[in-house]
Amino acid sequence: MRDISSTIGNSVVLSNVTSWRGLGINFYLSWYQAQKLFLSGTPTSTVQTFLQPFDWLSKLSGVYRSENKPMVQLEQRPVALVTGGAQGIGLGIAEHLLTIGWRVAIADLNEATGHAAQEKLAKFQDALIFVRCDVSQESEVAHYVQAAMEQFGQVHSLINNAGIANPYSGPVEELSLADWNRWIGTNLTGCFLMAKHAVPHLRPTRGAIVNISSVRAFQSEPHSEAYGASKGGVVGLTHALAVSLGPAIRVNCISPGWIDTSAYKHPPQQTNLNPIDHEQHPVGRVGKVQDIAEMVAFLLSDRAGFITGQTFTVDGGMSRRMIYEE
Ligand code: NAI
Repeated sequence: MRDISSTIGNSVVLSNVTSWRGLGINFYLSWYQAQKLFLSGTPTSTVQTFLQPFDWLSKLSGVYRSENKPMVQLEQRPVALVTGGAQGIGLGIAEHLLTIGWRVAIADLNEATGHAAQEKLAKFQDALIFVRCDVSQESEVAHYVQAAMEQFGQVHSLINNAGIANPYSGPVEELSLADWNRWIGTNLTGCFLMAKHAVPHLRPTRGAIVNISSVRAFQSEPHSEAYGASKGGVVGLTHALAVSLGPAIRVNCISPGWIDTSAYKHPPQQTNLNPIDHEQHPVGRVGKVQDIAEMVAFLLSDRAGFITGQTFTVDGGMSRRMIYEE
């Protein structure tokens, strides 16, 4: 297998250098400069020594178990299963994990967007596979987990993100059992099936699971019964799994609020947001895919080692606003 530790490995450090500039860190080493060092034949060890002082930056962002050696060989990097990773939040999670040094197996129902995701993430191609999989079907889930094991040899985390993201199922008197089962089958049963088949591989690696629920697990608009029930179920499944699977495996849940996924569609779309969309949030803006991806990375990292069974709302404070009509 080709050793790409020097290229992708360094991107772990460099990307963090870039993202922590906001804290007043003025040092910036561009990809171009780093590539030049390698292309000029500078021995990897020299470059590693050069970058070593900035190792603490990678620690701040929670690089998985790589505290003392950020430049990990490809085959030693942790492996994440990301469902629904072909677009939207799942694609953002996959991209972020690849950027900080994980290998990722994306599963998605939609083969065309799966391949589009592979193209978007082409620079990580050695660390990425896509498997077409309907998470509501047990045989397909088993095949996906098997494919990831065959490709990578181990699994360290599962991110249950796949979902029917449309919350509106219509008036309850008109909601067919088939449609109810569709929402529940993907959003809730899919999380159960993925856990069932991933857990045997997560135990030996002492891995972690992150389930993606929604603030709609706790709050509703009219005509969202199937979605709300499915996402409430994910919260319950999370704490049940955490108690059953500890101490080997930690299980947590994120409940996103309004996340703008337009940049993570194929092709990327323009955001269509009004000032009021942003201003109504206590933080002053609608959520970004990156907001969820950062939280996932934290919950997977050893820094979250004392956290399990919890659900974290990431909604810019929106669900803390008290709203009564005048
Ligand atoms: P999206 O529709 O852009 O992406 C969902 C992905 O899941 C798609 O690629 C789709 O093909 C895949 N998928 C759907 N059914 C599947 C199945 N049976 N098997 C495998 N893959 C399947 O949605 P988005 O917005 O990225 O949402 C991702 C997750 O986050 C969902 O679980 C959604 O409920 C949740 N969420 C999203 C929020 C938002 O504002 N975007 C807010 C709260 C929660």
